[in-house]
Amino acid sequence: SKPRSRRKVLLMGRSGAGKTSMRSIIFANYIPRETRRLGATIDIEHSQIRFLGDLMLSLWDCGGQDVFLDSYLDAQRDNIFSEVQVLIYVFDIMSTDVERDGYYFNRVIRCLCDASADAKVYCLFHKVDLVPEHQRQTVFEERQRRVKETVKPFSVKCFATSIWDETLYKAWSFMICGLIPQLSKLDGALSRFCEISEGDEVVLFERATFLVISHATLHSHSDVHRFEKISNIVKRFKLSCNKNQSHFHSLELRNSQFLAIIENFTSYTCVLYVSYRSDIQSTAVKLNIQCAKSLFE
Ligand code: GTP
Repeated sequence: SKPRSRRKVLLMGRSGAGKTSMRSIIFANYIPRETRRLGATIDIEHSQIRFLGDLMLSLWDCGGQDVFLDSYLDAQRDNIFSEVQVLIYVFDIMSTDVERDGYYFNRVIRCLCDASADAKVYCLFHKVDLVPEHQRQTVFEERQRRVKETVKPFSVKCFATSIWDETLYKAWSFMICGLIPQLSKLDGALSRFCEISEGDEVVLFERATFLVISHATLHSHSDVHRFEKISNIVKRFKLSCNKNQSHFHSLELRNSQFLAIIENFTSYTCVLYVSYRSDIQSTAVKLNIQCAKSLFE
């Protein structure tokens, strides 16, 4: 069937910030190490990404060398900035050319404001792995403050990201979820499933990217990044299965305290089911998962 919603997403920022790297990891099954081989993007690379069947992302990865940026802001301006739903602007957090970074960002925001005033703006302060851990929060807050000042009257949501850990999945899950039509329906179905099957935690992942789409949780947990860590780990496991010409189907972990099952679910999703009941049978859980499918197709 044809997807019903098409969304234009601009991925912008100066050369070397890491735009193509993140796109390749999330959508094209690269592992982080492989991004070292990527060359600079020449002009714009367009990709059409189908997400959950109903959503078509039209992702414009805009090469960030100054000559290209100058051209986007001038000759190509109408074409690029019209009908944009989301701008993802990537800063290299280690950049020493902060003034010029700010200059281009400011101009991009003005063009967006003129042509697509309703667009959502996200800023990623990227390569945060290169900042010593004890300084990360301060550096991030300082950068965020400056950006928020620039984007007025837009509001902006900022993330500190790295291809080397789960922060990349956290940011992209958040940004893409904002585009999913009827996300609340999925949230509702997942909560119901969690309740009926007496699960302690159930999480829905998009199958190809492993981005988190929705979760239902009975208890609060201290590790707020736990789902994205799982995205990162399971996606790597899936990719290593593919390398050996085998396909991921499901994964079951059990100790004396919990049972966790990750399994392919609908055509577009994977599900993670966690139970802290020691007497629970995995066959029963798997049967429940099969029965719940129709709620999500
Ligand atoms: P243009 O195509 O010229 O606009 O550049 P780009 O923004 O697409 O940069 P690209 O993705 O090509 O990445 C440049 C370099 O940064 C690559 O060598 C990546 O391996 C590296 N890189 C990307 N993300 C990270 C990160 O999170 N941490 C670190 N340390 N390096 C990164």
